Amino acid sequence: MSTVPPQPTLTDGVVVLRPWRDDDIEVARLAHDEEIARWFGFPAVIPSYEQHADAVHRWREKYADGRSAVNFLIEHDDRPSGTVEVRDAGDHRGELSWALYAGTRGQGVATRAVRLLIRYAFDELGMKRVEARVDPANVRSLRVASRAGLRREGVLRQHETIGGERRDHVILARLSADDEPSQAAGFRAILNAGLPRKRAISQLLVQGPEQRVLLCQLTYKADWDLPGGVVEVGESPAVAVVREVKEELALDLPAHGLLVVDWLPPWSGWDDALCLVFDGGVHDPSIVDAVVLEPREIVSAEFCTATQVRERCRDFTARRIEQALVAVGGTGAEFLHSGVPLPLSDSSD
Ligand SMILES: CC(C)(COP(=O)(O)OP(=O)(O)OC[C@H]1O[C@@H](n2cnc3c(N)ncnc32)[C@H](O)[C@@H]1OP(=O)(O)O)[C@@H](O)C(=O)NCCC(=O)NCCS
Repeated sequence: MSTVPPQPTLTDGVVVLRPWRDDDIEVARLAHDEEIARWFGFPAVIPSYEQHADAVHRWREKYADGRSAVNFLIEHDDRPSGTVEVRDAGDHRGELSWALYAGTRGQGVATRAVRLLIRYAFDELGMKRVEARVDPANVRSLRVASRAGLRREGVLRQHETIGGERRDHVILARLSADDEPSQAAGFRAILNAGLPRKRAISQLLVQGPEQRVLLCQLTYKADWDLPGGVVEVGESPAVAVVREVKEELALDLPAHGLLVVDWLPPWSGWDDALCLVFDGGVHDPSIVDAVVLEPREIVSAEFCTATQVRERCRDFTARRIEQALVAVGGTGAEFLHSGVPLPLSDSSD
């Protein structure tokens, strides 16, 4: 005797999710289009009757087999409009997929259907996490995922071969404990998970006599740079710069104010970043005697002349340092684009 209850019919008053009937097969198969074939990597746009009947047969078997997968037909305006599925991935984790048939898109049907399916997965199947993998170019599907409360978690690179091609997948998930997407906190969390995260780097311009600048020779690159480093998640750039200088050189130097913000374009395998240069003040050259180098990162630290800055630093770093020196004692921080102040001329890279 089967231990699973009969597959239910679910509705939010607009969209109905129900078990497949045999007379759905012909209507559903003819409603497949290139959009479905493309994203699922199906070899044929319209499946044969036998192929679709086989699929329905497998879904019924899986339902009976401890609900290892539950597939619903989506009905809207009394006609088959698509399909949604949740597969049991074990450990209270479900994998979701969805598709609408041609002519039924652009009305919010998929969003409603996926929301109903997720409620069923949490309430009836006892799942704690449901996830979906979506091709980054499948913008409509990414929107359905967000509207149904799934939060973007990352990109699985070349995750699967679909249509003979290795494809990246965005992984999105919703937890049973997450706030509802209709609530303010849940809505914010979904948007927050998908927004870009710009990297920030904080550096300190520490001057010695005659506008000499404290530079570090680094273990991980040939060119020299200002002391500083990457701002951690949730950390203030002003706190980061003081922390980095202490960690790298064992110097306790306050950051007085912001001199320049330099946008670093993507370079040599690194993503773009904002580099904030703070004023570290003017000091006696003897402060280098107190320096204790962090040997994994720093080879040496020296006060350098303008000529040495040009010799030892990359062009864009030298430009940034020169602009930072100009900004010392100025009225406000300057924005730079790869070391160049605005407005940019056509020749700026
Ligand atoms: C992915 C797919 C299901 C999305 O279909 P869709 O029609 O865009 O999704 P919805 O039914 O949720 O409709 C959302 C659209 O209807 C509009 N809409 C109208 N009323 C709405 C409502 N009450 N609620 C939400 N959206 C509503 C929205 O504005 C939205 O349009 P927009 O994206 O241009 O802003 C469909 O493109 C598809 O079947 N693709 C092929 C299969 C596929 O890619 N599956 C996923 C594999 S991972």
